[in-house]
Parts: sequence; C-alpha cells; structure tokens
Amino acid sequence: MIKKYIYGTPFDTEATVIDIEKTEGSPEYGNISCENKFCFEYEMSEKDMVFGLGESNRGINKRGYYYISNCTDDPQHTEHKSSFYGAHNFIVISGEKNFGIFIDYPSSICFDIGYTHSDKLSIICESCDLDFYVIYGESAYDIVKQFRKLIGRSYIPPKFAFGFAQSRWGYKTKEDYREVAREYRKHHIPIDMIYMDIDYMEDFKDFTFNKQNFSDFDEFVKEMKQYDYRLIPIIDAGVKIEKGYAIYEEGVENNYFCKKEDGTDFIAAVWPGYTHFPDVLNKEARKWFGSKYRILTEKGIEGFWNDMNEPAIFYTPEGIERIKNHMKKFVEKQPSKNDVWFMKDEMLYLANHSSDYASFYHNVDGQKIRHDKVHNLYGYNMTRAAAEGLNEIDSNRRYLLFSRSSYIGMHRYGGIWTGDNMSWWSHILLNIKMMPSLNMCGFLYIGADLGGFGGDTTRELLLRWLAFGIFTPIMRNHSADGTRRQECYQFEKVEELKQIIDVRYRLIPYIYSEYMKAALYDDMYFKPLAFVYAHDDIAKEIEDQLIIGNEVMIAPVYTQNAKGRSVYLPENMMMVKFLGDGSIQTEQYQKGYHYIAVALNEVVLFVREGKCIPVVDTAECVEKIDMQSMQLFGYQNSEYLLYDDDGITKQYTINCKLLKK
Ligand code: GLC
Repeated sequence: MIKKYIYGTPFDTEATVIDIEKTEGSPEYGNISCENKFCFEYEMSEKDMVFGLGESNRGINKRGYYYISNCTDDPQHTEHKSSFYGAHNFIVISGEKNFGIFIDYPSSICFDIGYTHSDKLSIICESCDLDFYVIYGESAYDIVKQFRKLIGRSYIPPKFAFGFAQSRWGYKTKEDYREVAREYRKHHIPIDMIYMDIDYMEDFKDFTFNKQNFSDFDEFVKEMKQYDYRLIPIIDAGVKIEKGYAIYEEGVENNYFCKKEDGTDFIAAVWPGYTHFPDVLNKEARKWFGSKYRILTEKGIEGFWNDMNEPAIFYTPEGIERIKNHMKKFVEKQPSKNDVWFMKDEMLYLANHSSDYASFYHNVDGQKIRHDKVHNLYGYNMTRAAAEGLNEIDSNRRYLLFSRSSYIGMHRYGGIWTGDNMSWWSHILLNIKMMPSLNMCGFLYIGADLGGFGGDTTRELLLRWLAFGIFTPIMRNHSADGTRRQECYQFEKVEELKQIIDVRYRLIPYIYSEYMKAALYDDMYFKPLAFVYAHDDIAKEIEDQLIIGNEVMIAPVYTQNAKGRSVYLPENMMMVKFLGDGSIQTEQYQKGYHYIAVALNEVVLFVREGKCIPVVDTAECVEKIDMQSMQLFGYQNSEYLLYDDDGITKQYTINCKLLKK
C-alpha cells in the first residue's frame, strides 16, 4: 500500500509513473512540521535498520550517519563525505515497523539517520513543496518491490553492454585505440567495448570530432566493428562558447541555454573552458540537445556515457571576480593565519560553489525556475534528452546509455556509473555496498570504475576488483589521465587477468537472465543478505556479501594480501569455484562460517540450496557466446529459468526456458 501526501506546490519531477491519489492528514508514523523548512522526524527502535539512498556513502544499513541528496562532482569519496553524484531519496525503515519513504523533492535534502541523536531519523528539506510517499509492506524487500512499480521499469541496455569494456581518460589517437584493441585480442582477453573519453572531440566540443585524429570517424567505427569492438563516446553537459560552433550558435539563437537573472546565458567553465548549459528542463531544449546524439549514431555509434552533468562547475566569471577581490585585499596587507586559510578555502570552493548554482535559471513551460531549487534533476534530464533522442532514431532499438549524475526517474532512461573513485581497497567495499541500494532506487545498469579511477592501481587490486566486477552489469576498467596504466595487458602474468574476465563471459547467460528478470518484474538484481534472510540475525548484519539474482551469493575478497576470506553461509550452499585453468570445482557447504581460499586468478560464488546456474564456455565477445556449450552447476534435480532474447530490440517477449539439472 502506498500513500501520497502533498505539501505546498511540488515541482513535477516525473520520478513516478503511477498516479496516486492524495491522502489527507498526516502519515501514521513520525511527525511532520512545515514551518519554513520541511522536517520529518521518527523515533527509531533499537532494532530498526534503514536501507536505501542509492548512490550514497557508507553502509548498506544507513543508520549512524547523515547523507545529503545534492548532486555533487566531488572526486574524493572519503568516508566523511555526505553527497555524491546522485540524489536518490528513498529509504526503508525495517524493524519494529516496516515502511518506506520517498521524498520527491528536487533540491537538497538532509537525511540524518541516527547521527545527531542515535535513535532519531530526521529528514530536512529547505522548502515545504514536495510529495511525500509512505509505502507500507510486510518486509523491506516487499516495500522495495512496491516502490519500484511506482517509479516504472528500469532501463534495459543491449546485450553487448554486458561485455567487458576498457576505458581511459587520455586515449587520443586512433593508434591509442588500436593498441588497446590489438593487445586485448592478442592475449585472448574477452572484451566488447572501448570507451572514448573527451579527447576524441575537437577542443572538448560535444558532437564534434578531433580533426587531426578522427576526421573519418565513421571509418574508424567500422574498423573497430570488424574486430568486434564497439566504441562508446562520452558527452559532457557544458557546450563550449565558440563563435561558429553550430551547437553553440543554435543554442544561443533559440534560447536553449540556462540563463542568468538578467536574461543573458549563464557561463561556467568545464573541460572546454567557458561553456553554456543546455536547459534540459525545458522541453524544446531537451528535444534539441537529444537530437544531436544522431550525429554520432549516424557514424555507427551504439552507446554513450553522459558526464559532468551535476552539472559540474570548475569556476564562473563571477567566482573569479570574487577571488580577485579577496586577493587584492590579501596582497595589500600582511596576511594573518586566518587570511591565509580563508584564501585557501576560497580557492578550493571556487568549484561547484552554491552561489553559482543559485545564479542561473531554467525555463520550465514558461516559468522561470532558479537552478538550485531543482538542482538534482539536471543529470536526469540530460540523460532523458539522450534517451528520447535515441528513441526518435529507432524506437525499437536499445542503446547503451549511462550517466554520472541522476535522480530517481532517470533509472528508466539509462544506468549510472559511480564516478571518480580511487584505486583504494576501501573503494571495492564501497562499490559492493552501493550496488543493492542503487537497485532499490531503480538503477540496475550500474558499476564502478574497476581498478579505480584516481591514483595508481596495483595488479592485485585490479584482479580482486575485476573479480567483483564480474557481477556488476557495467564491467568497465577506467582510469584517470596521469595515473598508472591499468589495461589488463599492462601487468605481469596477464593470463591471470584473462582468466578472471573469462568467468564474466561464462556467466553472461546467467547475469543477463537475472538482470532482465529484475528489470521486467521490478525486482532487484543485487540484494543485501538482510532482504533474503530477514530472520537470520547474523545475515542481516553482513554487508560484504551479496545475493545476485535469485540463485547466487557472492563474497568478494577486498583486502590486500588476502589468500581468501571468511564467508557466512545463511543456508546450505554449493560453492562453485572457477579455477585458473578453466575447470570448475564444486563443493557443498553447511550453513555457517567457513574460510574459503580464493587465489588471485579464481572466482568463487555460492549457489543457494536446491538451485543451479547456467555456465557457458568463454568467448571473445558477447556475440560469440555459444549457448550450446551451456552446462548447469548446482544441486541435482534443480531447475533454472533462463531468460534470453535477441539482445537489441525492445521485444521483451518472456522467452524463458526451464532448464533441468
Ligand atoms: C570526469 C569523469 C571521468 C572522466 C573525466 C574526463 O572526471 O568522471 O570518468 O574520465 O571527467 O572526461
């Protein structure tokens, strides 16, 4: 059962797809006050656990910290951070009472979940214009399923998007891409995609190609296709200000860019230098920006990643003026310690400054809306622009699409990757914990930069991260310019990296089948143990093991020098170990704790009691997977319902096949 309470005049975010009638009065649980700010308060019982918040920091159980939904380009994902790139305002309180809350409010929200007072949940929004949904159900899992129906079917990518991908910020020339393509094939490491970061463009201008390196872009796309590679280019939010650049000229002429108070186009610096932001909250501007993706699809491109769409602001002319003024005062006197610190902070906070977000406007159906009031909708609508544009090109075709910034609702248009993580062991764990929370909020096509984006990776870190990445729908190795090269072939004993990625391809029929079932039935692909074993007090607290689909539990290794790890089995399970030589070892284990050895070139998963999973031979790319080589691993006399389809059209005919072991 879902109840909707309306406060003030909410902005229509289009996060939900089902109309729910307004309930009068106040929600059954907690207290709401609405003077100036909106405030919801609830007294948590000792046993209450709180799940949700999608792309957010810390644990699967969110209790014990505070989180702020405010889409932010911050590449330092340290433990004290309260905002990442997405804003996903859905939580489930599970314990004495079970209920979910979704706050459909597009500006900043603070969720204080037992941080200020350990027993108090308080949710604070700056204004009182919002939709407040309360979802009642038997369990956390049941509440999530109801919520997922409310927000509509998750995005479904083409099947090739489940292959492995290599990416790196810094590939510039065709030769850079050819080298990656050659090396992966030379070592027989399966791979389907190479991502193109900003350097393929001319001066970082969206929908252009670097003249020196990519004058014949379509020929290059064809060349790579011959070797079964798809190129996936990046599109950034900011449009470079440059006379003669068609996108810029059209945007200015038609008032498609966000405006300042005085009606001039808002200016912000991102990778290309000064840019304007397409007003993707304005229907016509959204249609216009979305139609530009055709420039690349006409050249054979089948997928995109949308970036910098919080939108990220490095600085604005106003910010530079502010700094100059401070600087003038600073040089005129002998600066004190406080003056120095002040200057340091001013420089640091030049980027993504709150005053900049409060200085530009959107035109929504003729109404002027200040950006900070709807800040969390920008990445969502940029990706919606792309999805709608791609749908215009071919409404029956799936394109690969994901975004950095998002809000609930965007999950219908694309996936997300979790942005600029670091080559840190703790970030494998963060990756593990974030996945089920994202699924709760509808985001299914998800993954992190494997190996870590910032900092220098190590062979061991990459191997362990890839071994977890096998199970994330997006399996992409991506890293920042200037860091240690981390393509798999850069490391010694490259065959061991191949052996790990081989397992991904052996499991694609299962991964795809479970993804599709999750998407088609509004279910979760990643589940916390607490959802599946809700009555097992030990399982409920475990956050470094996950359920994948309906059959599998994983327990990734995420510590340096570990030869294995201790695993808790909440029921009898069958361990399936993929060994380096391609053979598979199985062993039944009793419910309880076990130490499981996992070598660097091995992948271990656990099949739940009475179940089995399909495994095929590995293949160089998704299209070459031989479904005839399929074998079932797991318990005798078990069955598996395999979903499969053509992988590219939107004809999701429920074509399930019952396989028997
Ligand atoms: C941002 C993205 C990163 C990309 C870089 C350059 O930091 O998050 O993935 O490589 O920009 O485009």
